[in-house]
Amino acid sequence: MDLFEYQARDLFESYGVPVLAGLIADTPEEAKAAAEKIGGTVVVKAQVKTGGRGKAGGVKVVHNADDAYAAAEQILGLDIKGHVVKRVMIAQGARIAQEFYFSVLLDRANRSYLSLCSVEGGMEIEELAVERPEALARVEVNPAQGIDKAKAVEIAKEANFPEELVEKVADVFVKLYDVYKGEDATLVEVNPLVLTEDGEIIALDGKVSLDENAGFRHENHEALEDKDAADPLEAKAKANDLNYVKLDGEVGIIGNGAGLVMSTLDVVAYAGEKHGAVKPANFLDIGGGASATVMANGLDVILGDPQVKSVFVNVFGGITSCDAVANGIVKALEILGDSADKPLVVRLDGNNVDEGRRILTEANHPLVTLAATMDEGADKAAELANAAR
Ligand SMILES: Nc1ncnc2c1ncn2[C@@H]1O[C@H](COP(=O)(O)OP(=O)(O)OP(=O)(O)O)[C@@H](O)[C@H]1O
Ligand SMILES: [Mg+2]
Repeated sequence: MDLFEYQARDLFESYGVPVLAGLIADTPEEAKAAAEKIGGTVVVKAQVKTGGRGKAGGVKVVHNADDAYAAAEQILGLDIKGHVVKRVMIAQGARIAQEFYFSVLLDRANRSYLSLCSVEGGMEIEELAVERPEALARVEVNPAQGIDKAKAVEIAKEANFPEELVEKVADVFVKLYDVYKGEDATLVEVNPLVLTEDGEIIALDGKVSLDENAGFRHENHEALEDKDAADPLEAKAKANDLNYVKLDGEVGIIGNGAGLVMSTLDVVAYAGEKHGAVKPANFLDIGGGASATVMANGLDVILGDPQVKSVFVNVFGGITSCDAVANGIVKALEILGDSADKPLVVRLDGNNVDEGRRILTEANHPLVTLAATMDEGADKAAELANAAR
């Protein structure tokens, strides 16, 4: 479970991580009141569970309460990568001398924890990792030992912090690790961690993911769940018993079986690298029975996502044979009529595949392209999504 920045801020505060005052607001009026309460320069920050808020116009520095009202008015309702802003945080303004980056996360591939740290914070860390990998320290953290003061000093030195700051940031790293460990998090990230003009180290932003499997150990975690903001598409999918997770990309995905859908996401992400870096727009597993209704419901959810530019239907016929799936697709398109308006790439394989392909070829629907293999389908869907952007 990912937390909102304000929830991360509150957790940080409870662990003694230095943070600035922050109040939440759901309306411009509340934002104004919060800005008056905090006083002076404040930053109005969109609370959405996605990165790059600043670039999208979701972070604004203002110098009085009336401007906070205006900024909140602009930011509330803003769509940031498919996440509509319903709440802002009014954060006390910091006078920043320098921005750093720190994170600790679960490193699944190495069955360990990993800390990433850089004296060049603020910018998107993915970019830094690609463009100047030498500026990003990667320090393995033994889960049995964690980040004690000595380890924190090692991380700070590895990241090339100037000698006079090492002790100070190391103390904050230890506290951030306390949050990670104490809350059973899989990620604690601070970007930026700043040095203020007064020489203080402060966490100005916070990203925390909690391990839901450890939820039973933490009474406080249930309250952190974002009940009303369940994505409307996710809510619609849930109502139709579909296994749907919204993602940030442009290629809608439908498949049968969680394993096949997971690998379809990988293949599409890989194919997307050649086509303007388009990515999967969702995870959608329609399960064993790919009837026309299930297919129509699935397509309806996916096509309802304005970010989707093409759809890749990747089905392996098993108990539900390919001809049934093909009929499902044809009927689903009939049911949806004009609301189906984006290209569909279909790859069928498995039980009765020839008949399935024949049905689709014969139907000759203008939106449907048949692909012979999963790679070909992914490539075609990525190409179409890129062309439609
Ligand atoms: N309280 C604050 N006072 C002064 N400047 C701030 C404050 N909070 C953020 N900023 C400035 O705004 C920039 C962007 O803020 P922040 O890191 O919170 O958002 P973001 O990085 O755009 O979003 P995300 O972390 O979701 O990608 C920071 O790098 C910092 O320069
Ligand atoms: Mg940030």
